[in-house]
Amino acid sequence: MSNRSIVALKFVVFPACLIPLAVLVYQGFTNSLGPDPVATITHTTGFWTLYFLLISLAVTPVRRLSRRLAWLIRFRRMLGLFAFFYAMLHLTTWVWLYSNFDVHEMVHDIGKRPFITMGMLGWTCLFLLAATSTTWSIRKLGGKRWTMLHRLAYVAATAGVIHYWWIVKTGVRTPWKVTVVLAVLLLARALWWAKEAVSKKKVAVTA
Ligand code: HEM
Repeated sequence: MSNRSIVALKFVVFPACLIPLAVLVYQGFTNSLGPDPVATITHTTGFWTLYFLLISLAVTPVRRLSRRLAWLIRFRRMLGLFAFFYAMLHLTTWVWLYSNFDVHEMVHDIGKRPFITMGMLGWTCLFLLAATSTTWSIRKLGGKRWTMLHRLAYVAATAGVIHYWWIVKTGVRTPWKVTVVLAVLLLARALWWAKEAVSKKKVAVTA
């Protein structure tokens, strides 16, 4: 895909990523957020955090399946930043609408409620990823260290999925779909590392 087409596509993808927020705002103005508006906002922002995280993690394996899809890498940072954007909205909902900015209650919740602790772990990883997403950070940290740090995306996604499992009632299996997607992505990554390790060993033997 040419550079011009990628730039043009970015102008479509960027507003498209804002659609879930636009729908929430529309529902807010038309009083159609349902019987529990806070729950609707929390669920929507939580799900979109997870979806953007999984989509951004899928970019590399999909790109490896076909050279013709190499251009997808140009969208990874944007998709990852949208995961952080929705995570910020999700966290803000909790800080504002659930906890009413009560720092004491929030600290208590983080320590006492495992699903909140897991959510905070995921959010912290996303924060570190967003804070180091600039070209300046790559230069400062060096490619190798930056790549290592950005594996936190897998920790964030795993924490997000566990957080989801710990929210649903016992016996409810709705998080299974995102769990399967994450497992496939982790497996693809593990296979790739194994393949790389074998080819490095081969090079060392023949050298
Ligand atoms: C990687 C970060 C996170 C992801 C992917 C995530 C994902 C989700 C998802 C998918 C839900 C909806 C579950 C459902 O409807 O059954 C949810 C709900 C929720 N999340 Fe998160 N979350 C994250 C971080 C956080 C953080 C940092 C907090 C607060 C400190 C938080 C607090 C909540 C709360 C209070 C709910 C609603 C629980 C309920 O329905 O009783 N989440 N989250």
